[in-house]
Amino acid sequence: MTFLEVTHLTKVFGGFHAVDDISFAIERGTINGVIGPNGAGKTTMFNLLTGYLRPSAGKIVFDGVDITGRRPNWLSQRGIARAFQITSVFPRLTVLESIECAVNAQKRLSGSLLFSRRRTARTEAAELIEAVGLTHVRDAPAMSLSHGDQRTLEVTLALAIQPHLLLLDEPTAGMSPWETEHMVELVCKLARSHGLTVLFCEHDMDVVFNISDRVIVLHQGRVIVDDEPGAVRGNEMVVRVYLGEKYV
Ligand SMILES: Nc1ncnc2c1ncn2[C@@H]1O[C@H](COP(=O)(O)OP(=O)(O)OP(=O)(O)O)[C@@H](O)[C@H]1O
Ligand SMILES: [Mg+2]
Repeated sequence: MTFLEVTHLTKVFGGFHAVDDISFAIERGTINGVIGPNGAGKTTMFNLLTGYLRPSAGKIVFDGVDITGRRPNWLSQRGIARAFQITSVFPRLTVLESIECAVNAQKRLSGSLLFSRRRTARTEAAELIEAVGLTHVRDAPAMSLSHGDQRTLEVTLALAIQPHLLLLDEPTAGMSPWETEHMVELVCKLARSHGLTVLFCEHDMDVVFNISDRVIVLHQGRVIVDDEPGAVRGNEMVVRVYLGEKYV
Protein backbone atom coordinates (compact mmCIF):
# COMPACT_ATOMS: atom_id res chain seq x y z
CA MET A 1 0.00 0.00 0.00
CA THR A 2 1.33 3.46 -0.89
CA PHE A 3 2.37 5.25 2.27
CA LEU A 4 3.93 8.39 0.83
CA GLU A 5 2.96 9.69 -2.56
CA VAL A 6 4.75 12.63 -4.10
CA THR A 7 3.31 14.09 -7.30
CA HIS A 8 4.89 16.76 -9.53
CA LEU A 9 6.74 18.22 -6.54
CA THR A 10 8.64 21.37 -7.50
CA LYS A 11 10.71 23.99 -5.69
CA VAL A 12 11.91 27.06 -7.53
CA PHE A 13 14.47 29.44 -6.00
CA GLY A 14 14.46 32.68 -7.99
CA GLY A 15 13.87 30.95 -11.31
CA PHE A 16 16.16 27.98 -10.53
CA HIS A 17 14.35 24.61 -10.29
CA ALA A 18 16.13 22.89 -7.36
CA VAL A 19 13.38 20.22 -7.31
CA ASP A 20 11.80 19.90 -10.70
CA ASP A 21 8.53 18.01 -11.14
CA ILE A 22 9.38 15.00 -8.97
CA SER A 23 6.91 12.10 -8.62
CA PHE A 24 7.38 8.86 -6.70
CA ALA A 25 5.58 6.60 -4.26
CA ILE A 26 6.93 4.59 -1.35
CA GLU A 27 5.42 1.65 0.47
CA ARG A 28 4.86 1.26 4.20
CA GLY A 29 7.67 -0.44 6.13
CA THR A 30 10.30 -0.08 3.41
CA ILE A 31 13.76 1.47 3.40
CA ASN A 32 14.22 3.93 0.54
CA GLY A 33 17.53 5.45 -0.49
CA VAL A 34 17.87 8.74 -2.37
CA ILE A 35 21.10 9.31 -4.26
CA GLY A 36 22.44 11.87 -6.70
CA PRO A 37 25.34 14.24 -7.28
CA ASN A 38 25.94 17.34 -5.14
CA GLY A 39 23.24 19.91 -5.84
CA ALA A 40 20.81 17.30 -7.25
CA GLY A 41 18.06 18.55 -4.92
CA LYS A 42 18.10 15.83 -2.24
CA THR A 43 18.15 18.11 0.80
CA THR A 44 15.64 20.48 -0.80
CA MET A 45 13.30 17.53 -1.34
CA PHE A 46 13.71 16.49 2.33
CA ASN A 47 12.94 20.06 3.41
CA LEU A 48 9.76 19.99 1.32
CA LEU A 49 8.68 16.63 2.79
CA THR A 50 9.25 17.79 6.38
CA GLY A 51 7.61 21.19 5.96
CA TYR A 52 10.76 23.33 6.23
CA LEU A 53 10.16 24.60 2.71
CA ARG A 54 6.87 25.19 0.94
CA PRO A 55 6.60 23.63 -2.50
CA SER A 56 6.25 25.91 -5.53
CA ALA A 57 4.00 23.23 -7.06
CA GLY A 58 2.99 19.62 -6.59
CA LYS A 59 1.35 17.48 -3.96
CA ILE A 60 2.47 15.28 -1.04
CA VAL A 61 0.06 12.66 0.32
CA PHE A 62 1.06 10.84 3.51
CA ASP A 63 -0.97 7.85 4.69
CA GLY A 64 -3.94 9.01 2.62
CA VAL A 65 -3.82 12.63 3.85
CA ASP A 66 -2.79 15.61 1.70
CA ILE A 67 0.04 17.19 3.71
CA THR A 68 1.26 19.65 1.06
CA GLY A 69 2.47 22.89 2.65
CA ARG A 70 1.98 21.68 6.24
CA ARG A 71 4.40 22.98 8.84
CA PRO A 72 7.08 20.88 10.60
CA ASN A 73 5.26 20.68 13.98
CA TRP A 74 2.04 19.54 12.38
CA LEU A 75 3.90 16.89 10.41
CA SER A 76 5.87 15.60 13.39
CA GLN A 77 2.67 15.26 15.40
CA ARG A 78 1.39 13.00 12.65
CA GLY A 79 4.42 10.79 12.60
CA ILE A 80 6.92 12.30 10.18
CA ALA A 81 10.29 12.75 11.87
CA ARG A 82 13.70 13.84 10.75
CA ALA A 83 17.05 13.72 12.47
CA PHE A 84 18.64 17.07 13.39
CA GLN A 85 22.14 18.02 14.34
CA ILE A 86 22.10 17.50 18.09
CA THR A 87 24.88 20.01 18.74
CA SER A 88 22.45 22.76 17.86
CA VAL A 89 19.52 21.29 19.81
CA PHE A 90 20.43 20.17 23.36
CA PRO A 91 24.22 20.59 23.65
CA ARG A 92 24.48 20.67 27.45
CA LEU A 93 21.87 18.08 28.41
CA THR A 94 22.98 14.52 28.94
CA VAL A 95 21.94 11.81 26.50
CA LEU A 96 19.31 10.57 28.98
CA GLU A 97 17.96 14.08 29.63
CA SER A 98 17.80 14.90 25.92
CA ILE A 99 15.82 11.80 25.07
CA GLU A 100 13.61 12.23 28.13
CA CYS A 101 12.74 15.74 26.85
CA ALA A 102 11.77 14.34 23.48
CA VAL A 103 9.70 11.53 25.05
CA ASN A 104 7.92 14.10 27.25
CA ALA A 105 7.23 16.33 24.25
CA GLN A 106 5.69 13.38 22.44
CA LYS A 107 3.50 12.57 25.47
CA ARG A 108 2.30 16.17 25.65
CA LEU A 109 1.48 16.14 21.96
CA SER A 110 -0.35 12.84 22.09
CA GLY A 111 -2.19 13.85 25.28
CA SER A 112 -1.07 10.79 27.25
CA LEU A 113 -0.14 12.73 30.39
CA LEU A 114 -0.05 10.61 33.52
CA PHE A 115 0.76 11.74 37.06
CA SER A 116 3.83 9.50 36.90
CA ARG A 117 4.88 11.08 33.62
CA ARG A 118 8.40 11.96 34.67
CA ARG A 119 9.29 8.46 35.83
CA THR A 120 7.62 6.91 32.81
CA ALA A 121 9.40 9.22 30.38
CA ARG A 122 12.72 8.47 32.04
CA THR A 123 12.09 4.74 31.86
CA GLU A 124 11.11 4.98 28.20
CA ALA A 125 14.18 7.09 27.45
CA ALA A 126 16.45 4.55 29.17
CA GLU A 127 14.90 1.71 27.17
CA LEU A 128 15.42 3.61 23.93
CA ILE A 129 19.05 4.32 24.85
CA GLU A 130 19.65 0.63 25.39
CA ALA A 131 17.95 -0.31 22.12
CA VAL A 132 20.17 2.03 20.08
CA GLY A 133 23.38 1.09 21.91
CA LEU A 134 24.09 4.41 23.66
CA THR A 135 24.18 3.07 27.24
CA HIS A 136 27.91 3.79 27.53
CA VAL A 137 27.26 7.56 27.15
CA ARG A 138 23.90 7.74 28.92
CA ASP A 139 25.00 10.36 31.46
CA ALA A 140 27.41 12.28 29.25
CA PRO A 141 26.52 15.76 27.89
CA ALA A 142 25.41 15.51 24.26
CA MET A 143 28.14 17.89 23.08
CA SER A 144 30.88 15.65 24.52
CA LEU A 145 29.92 12.63 22.40
CA SER A 146 31.96 11.28 19.49
CA HIS A 147 30.65 12.20 16.06
CA GLY A 148 29.16 8.74 15.54
CA ASP A 149 27.39 8.73 18.91
CA GLN A 150 26.03 12.22 18.24
CA ARG A 151 24.54 11.11 14.93
CA THR A 152 23.03 8.06 16.68
CA LEU A 153 21.58 10.38 19.32
CA GLU A 154 20.02 12.54 16.58
CA VAL A 155 18.29 9.49 15.13
CA THR A 156 17.21 8.43 18.63
CA LEU A 157 15.66 11.84 19.28
CA ALA A 158 13.68 11.51 16.07
CA LEU A 159 12.58 8.03 17.18
CA ALA A 160 11.43 9.31 20.58
CA ILE A 161 8.42 10.91 18.94
CA GLN A 162 7.42 7.43 17.70
CA PRO A 163 7.37 8.29 14.01
CA HIS A 164 5.89 6.26 11.19
CA LEU A 165 8.11 7.86 8.56
CA LEU A 166 11.72 8.66 9.37
CA LEU A 167 13.75 10.97 7.10
CA LEU A 168 17.52 10.93 7.35
CA ASP A 169 19.72 13.33 5.39
CA GLU A 170 23.13 11.65 5.08
CA PRO A 171 23.00 9.70 8.38
CA THR A 172 26.53 8.31 8.02
CA ALA A 173 28.28 11.51 6.89
CA GLY A 174 31.66 11.83 8.59
CA MET A 175 31.38 8.48 10.36
CA SER A 176 34.12 5.88 10.67
CA PRO A 177 33.51 2.49 8.99
CA TRP A 178 32.60 0.98 12.38
CA GLU A 179 30.18 3.83 13.20
CA THR A 180 28.66 3.55 9.73
CA GLU A 181 28.05 -0.16 10.24
CA HIS A 182 26.40 0.53 13.59
CA MET A 183 24.11 3.18 12.07
CA VAL A 184 23.15 0.90 9.20
CA GLU A 185 22.31 -1.95 11.58
CA LEU A 186 20.27 0.43 13.72
CA VAL A 187 18.21 1.78 10.82
CA CYS A 188 17.54 -1.73 9.48
CA LYS A 189 16.63 -3.07 12.91
CA LEU A 190 14.18 -0.25 13.53
CA ALA A 191 12.58 -0.50 10.14
CA ARG A 192 12.08 -4.25 10.51
CA SER A 193 11.06 -4.34 14.18
CA HIS A 194 8.82 -1.25 14.27
CA GLY A 195 7.50 -1.35 10.72
CA LEU A 196 9.09 2.07 10.33
CA THR A 197 9.25 3.52 6.82
CA VAL A 198 12.61 5.15 6.11
CA LEU A 199 13.62 7.65 3.42
CA PHE A 200 17.29 8.57 3.54
CA CYS A 201 19.78 10.27 1.31
CA GLU A 202 23.35 9.12 1.37
CA HIS A 203 26.64 9.42 -0.48
CA ASP A 204 28.00 6.06 0.75
CA MET A 205 26.90 3.73 -2.06
CA ASP A 206 27.73 0.56 -0.11
CA VAL A 207 25.22 1.64 2.53
CA VAL A 208 22.59 2.57 -0.06
CA PHE A 209 22.81 -0.66 -2.03
CA ASN A 210 23.03 -2.87 1.05
CA ILE A 211 20.00 -1.66 2.95
CA SER A 212 17.55 -0.10 0.50
CA ASP A 213 14.46 -1.86 -0.78
CA ARG A 214 14.28 0.89 -3.38
CA VAL A 215 16.59 3.59 -4.66
CA ILE A 216 15.54 6.93 -6.15
CA VAL A 217 18.15 8.73 -8.23
CA LEU A 218 17.97 12.51 -8.50
CA HIS A 219 19.86 14.55 -11.08
CA GLN A 220 19.41 18.28 -11.64
CA GLY A 221 16.23 18.28 -9.57
CA ARG A 222 14.60 15.41 -11.44
CA VAL A 223 14.05 11.70 -10.73
CA ILE A 224 16.04 9.91 -13.41
CA VAL A 225 15.59 6.37 -12.05
CA ASP A 226 13.41 4.83 -9.32
CA ASP A 227 13.93 1.10 -8.96
CA GLU A 228 15.32 -1.83 -6.95
CA PRO A 229 19.00 -1.48 -5.94
CA GLY A 230 20.22 -4.10 -8.44
CA ALA A 231 18.52 -2.36 -11.36
CA VAL A 232 19.77 1.08 -10.30
CA ARG A 233 23.32 -0.17 -10.01
CA GLY A 234 23.23 -1.50 -13.55
CA ASN A 235 21.44 1.50 -15.08
CA GLU A 236 23.58 3.10 -17.75
CA MET A 237 22.39 6.64 -17.13
CA VAL A 238 22.96 6.37 -13.36
CA VAL A 239 26.47 5.07 -13.93
CA ARG A 240 27.14 7.94 -16.31
CA VAL A 241 25.85 10.81 -14.18
CA TYR A 242 26.74 9.56 -10.74
CA LEU A 243 28.14 6.15 -9.93
CA GLY A 244 31.03 5.85 -12.36
CA GLU A 245 32.42 2.42 -13.19
CA LYS A 246 33.12 1.25 -9.60
CA TYR A 247 29.61 0.02 -8.86
CA VAL A 248 28.75 -1.67 -12.14
N1 LIG B 1 17.53 28.36 -0.18
C1 LIG B 1 18.08 28.25 -1.41
N2 LIG B 1 18.12 29.28 -2.25
C2 LIG B 1 18.65 29.17 -3.48
N3 LIG B 1 19.15 28.02 -3.98
C3 LIG B 1 19.14 26.94 -3.18
C4 LIG B 1 18.59 26.99 -1.87
N4 LIG B 1 18.69 25.73 -1.31
C5 LIG B 1 19.28 24.98 -2.25
N5 LIG B 1 19.54 25.68 -3.36
C6 LIG B 1 20.15 25.17 -4.60
O1 LIG B 1 19.38 24.06 -5.02
C7 LIG B 1 20.22 23.03 -5.53
C8 LIG B 1 19.97 21.74 -4.79
O2 LIG B 1 20.53 21.85 -3.48
P1 LIG B 1 20.40 20.69 -2.42
O3 LIG B 1 21.03 21.18 -1.16
O4 LIG B 1 18.99 20.26 -2.33
O5 LIG B 1 21.28 19.55 -3.08
P2 LIG B 1 21.73 18.13 -2.49
O6 LIG B 1 21.33 17.12 -3.50
O7 LIG B 1 21.25 17.97 -1.11
O8 LIG B 1 23.33 18.28 -2.55
P3 LIG B 1 24.44 17.65 -1.54
O9 LIG B 1 24.70 16.28 -2.05
O10 LIG B 1 25.63 18.57 -1.77
O11 LIG B 1 23.92 17.69 -0.13
C9 LIG B 1 21.66 23.55 -5.43
O12 LIG B 1 22.05 24.11 -6.66
C10 LIG B 1 21.56 24.63 -4.36
O13 LIG B 1 22.53 25.63 -4.56
MG1 LIG C 1 22.19 17.69 0.72
